[in-house]
Amino acid sequence: MQLQQNISLKPYNTFGIDMPAEYFAEVTDETFLPLITENDLPSEKHVLGGGSNILLTKPVKGLTIHNKIKGIFKINEDEHHVWIKVGSGEIWHEFVMYAIANGWAGVENLALIPGTVGAAPIQNIGAYGVEVKEVIDNISAWHWEAGQFFPYNSNECAFGYRDSIFKHQLKNKVFITSVTFKLNKKPKFNTSYGAIEQELAKMKVTELSIKAIADVVIAIRTSKLPDPKKIGNAGSFFKNPTIAKQQYEHLKDFHPQIPSYPVDNDTVKVPAGWLIEQCGWKGFRAGETGVHDKQALVLVNYGHADGNAVWNLSENIVKTVKDKFGITLEREVQVW
Ligand code: EPU
Repeated sequence: MQLQQNISLKPYNTFGIDMPAEYFAEVTDETFLPLITENDLPSEKHVLGGGSNILLTKPVKGLTIHNKIKGIFKINEDEHHVWIKVGSGEIWHEFVMYAIANGWAGVENLALIPGTVGAAPIQNIGAYGVEVKEVIDNISAWHWEAGQFFPYNSNECAFGYRDSIFKHQLKNKVFITSVTFKLNKKPKFNTSYGAIEQELAKMKVTELSIKAIADVVIAIRTSKLPDPKKIGNAGSFFKNPTIAKQQYEHLKDFHPQIPSYPVDNDTVKVPAGWLIEQCGWKGFRAGETGVHDKQALVLVNYGHADGNAVWNLSENIVKTVKDKFGITLEREVQVW
């Protein structure tokens, strides 16, 4: 393991923001982690996976660890399931494709989500009617202060919408080394998300398969979300807000078209993309930063944006949405 100093993180974040890390190291094997603890390397540590959900606004102090722990192993199976242990530095989409090639179902709706396997539980990534928590059996992580590896079963992870214990009590306290998934041998197709049904019809898919679902998900994502290799971005910048049904009914009197998804008897989720578009931001550009023209939930870097310019744009968006709808948007990206 080589410790580098004052390295630009531009190639390591999909927003493409140029900010230095004070110290930087790549970890390819979990046995390096005890060494980092024993040698008392900088106490402030930041783990970087695919860098697809962060906005860098200032130089990163302490040690930034680029996670490159690889490996996909089948560790158990029964008549209905397989248990697959995956190194946290594996690229999420490559794992999804590997699962599909082996006929293991459960992650096909999550195709093409950028980032690594280790970042998936932190964020409880979700798309097209599925959240990753549904297929996570357990997680293994190195605890920096305790100086040992711990298993965390799915219940201990406190998964919520784009949320988990790793964003709260365990924030910056652990390094996730592997995730074990419980996948299905017989698929249970989830086509509940409207856009999937429409795309299946458009692509004239008559026989459902996990591959067919992944193909339509890839087609939908490609049409709406900018490719970070071409335009810097971190996917959805904000979460979809959950509001009281009463507030929703009141808003509907003024905005009859406002979409919603039921959460429970008393609350609904409203698409932040719709709210932002209604405030006139879709396709907005100010210098090097802006709002994607096909999905208003995605802020973009046209090349040389400063992280603070993206942050300021997000502040303005929060303000206008609050003024127009009385709803406070929360950021989904992690701000460093
Ligand atoms: N909408 C607009 N204008 C926009 C964008 C969306 O009116 O500019 C409306 C759409 O017409 C639709 C609704 O908002 O009625 C929902 O849009 P979409 O299906 O694109 O999904 P989303 O709610 O905007 C969420 C996730 C995405 C995920 C998709 C599909 C969040 C914050 N985002 O977006 O996740 O891919 O659903 O399941 O929950 C991510 O987390 O980075 C991400 C991309």
